[in-house]
Amino acid sequence: MGLSEYYKDDIERVLISQTDLNNRIGEIAMQLDKDYKGKNLLVIGILKGAIFTITNLLEKMQKNVDLDFMTLSSYGDKVRSSGSIKLVMDLDRNVENTNILIVEDIIDTGLTMKWLLDYLYKKKAASVEIFTLLEKKEGHKHFVNPKYVGFQIPNEFVVGFGLDYGQYYRNVPYIGVLKEGVYKGE
Ligand code: IMP
Repeated sequence: MGLSEYYKDDIERVLISQTDLNNRIGEIAMQLDKDYKGKNLLVIGILKGAIFTITNLLEKMQKNVDLDFMTLSSYGDKVRSSGSIKLVMDLDRNVENTNILIVEDIIDTGLTMKWLLDYLYKKKAASVEIFTLLEKKEGHKHFVNPKYVGFQIPNEFVVGFGLDYGQYYRNVPYIGVLKEGVYKGE
């Protein structure tokens, strides 16, 4: 079965609605405003999956933050982690003595975030915390411990709100479970 032209045909069910996403990200924005009061903060969005989360978060935060992006790849077009991380686009700045908040779409094994934490600490960041919109608790091998988690989800392949399958479905406005038939038999 291939990708259908309209995403709705390929979604099994809505896992997290737009309203729930908005509300939860709003709570985390308020928490971050509190936690980083009086401190410098560089928010690093991990492309491309975190793009919806980062814009949604930043429009809700009151604090004046600095923003940058990185692109890491661990999955390619597959539904399972390749285990090796590739830095596709780096920061264009020095992060020494900077408080960093990484904004990520989903943590599965945690290998991607573990790699990034090591990388940023090597560059002498003052502190590095993670906000992940989703965390697959079962898949999580405790490589990292994100301070801010939007939702814990079951071990199913999800798309939407920035998350993709083979670079498609990012524009689904909620988090949905992809029908197995879309990726099985590839
Ligand atoms: P980890 O290194 O195993 O934690 O994998 C994290 C990366 O895998 C995320 O940044 C996503 O790009 C991708 N990923 C993991 N699970 C899913 C999923 O259910 N849907 C879409 N992408 C996923």
